[in-house]
Parts: sequence; C-alpha cells; structure tokens
Amino acid sequence: MGDFVIAPSILSADFASLGDECDAVFAAGADWLHVDVMDGHYVPNLTIGLPVVRALRARFPDAVLDVHLMIDNPDDFVASYAEAGADLVSFHPEVSRHVHGSIHAIKAAGAKACLALNPGTSLACLDHVEQYLDMILVMSVNPGFGGQSFVPHTLEKLRALRARLEAKGLSPRVQVDGGVGVGNIAEIAAAGADTFVAGSAIFKSGDYAGTIAQMRAALASA
Ligand code: DX5
Ligand code: ZN
Repeated sequence: MGDFVIAPSILSADFASLGDECDAVFAAGADWLHVDVMDGHYVPNLTIGLPVVRALRARFPDAVLDVHLMIDNPDDFVASYAEAGADLVSFHPEVSRHVHGSIHAIKAAGAKACLALNPGTSLACLDHVEQYLDMILVMSVNPGFGGQSFVPHTLEKLRALRARLEAKGLSPRVQVDGGVGVGNIAEIAAAGADTFVAGSAIFKSGDYAGTIAQMRAALASA
C-alpha cells in the first residue's frame, strides 16, 4: 500500500442492484469497496452483514473489500468477516472488550486490521496496539448514516495522528470516513489521510467516473 486510495462506500449505492453498482464504481476507477456493517445497536441503523460480504467476495474475487464494522461486541465477529472475504476489517474500540485480541484474530484469519476512531474518541486508544495496525480509520462523522457533514476538527486530529505515527516510526494507512467529497478531499489529504471513503459524494453524483477523476485531480494538487 502506498498511494492514495479511494474507497466508495456502498451504503449509498442502490442495494437492489448492488453487484451492478460495484461493477460501475470499479469501472469508474474505484480502488476498494467500503462495506458498512451496522447492527441497529452500536449505531441507530441496520444495514448488511456476512452474507453480503460473502456474495461480494464471490462476485469480485480480486477486489479489495474494506469492511467497517459498526456493531456491538465486535470481538465476537471480526474473524468471521475476515473468513467471509474481507481484506481489511475495521472495528470500534469503544465497544471492544479485547482490542488487542481482536486485532490479532483478524490477522490470524488472513485480513488486515484497523481501528476506527469516532470524532469523540481520543488517539490515546491507540496506545499499546498501534504497532499491530495496518490502518487507522479516523471517523469524520458520527457513525450510522451516509450523507452527513464532515466534522471540522477531524483535520486537527489527522495532523496529530500523522505526527504521532512519524514520531514512532509507524506507517499504517490513515483512512477518513464521512463527509468526504471533491471539495474537501485535498485538505483532508494535506492533513495526513491517504485513504478516502466516500459514499454519497460518489453514488449520488450521477457520474461516478467524473467524480472519482475530480477527486484524483484534487489529490494530485494536495
Ligand atoms: C458512516 C459510514 C460511512 C458512510 C459515509 O457511518 O461509516 O462509510 O457511508 O457516507 P458519506 O460519504 O456519504 O458521508
Ligand atoms: Zn464506513
């Protein structure tokens, strides 16, 4: 991993045509698919689960599936999502009783491990585990829904995270999720992110290729 990654969130896709929607964003230049799993408990929304991850893996054997678990008790599920075909599994430390154990369970199942930090979650939760992480997800909205506005203090948090990682000589990917679009992706990159989730900005644009191309142009100038 190295360059900028654009990961459309299928949460904003047409679920009745999900496979075709995924075909369309890959044809439009998407790097990964971001798969938002919500349980109606940790967040007040219910989306998709293991069968959909399995189905996406079967239809897109070479795609990078970036699975974001917004669920209670993630420790009970992380390995199952890795086994279902996730390349990366992200979970929230606020609801994990065994953060270190779950990171290692993901890796033992053959996937990359990521912690997802809410806007109100301190970078201190990375203490003692950041050296094991393949990616850190800085949430730029409170999780639960697509189409929310980017929380401005995320930029400051990204700068602090980037400085922290550099000081420790660590180089996980740094992902941002929520309210990312053509208009702000450059400043988010300048603050330290390299991996960008965008749901509504892409799927509601009516022109997936044009939007992703505009994002890449903005990143090129970041
Ligand atoms: C929010 C999800 C996001 C969401 C982003 O809880 O984790 O991945 O789909 O949607 P946009 O890009 O519309 O903010
Ligand atoms: Zn997400």
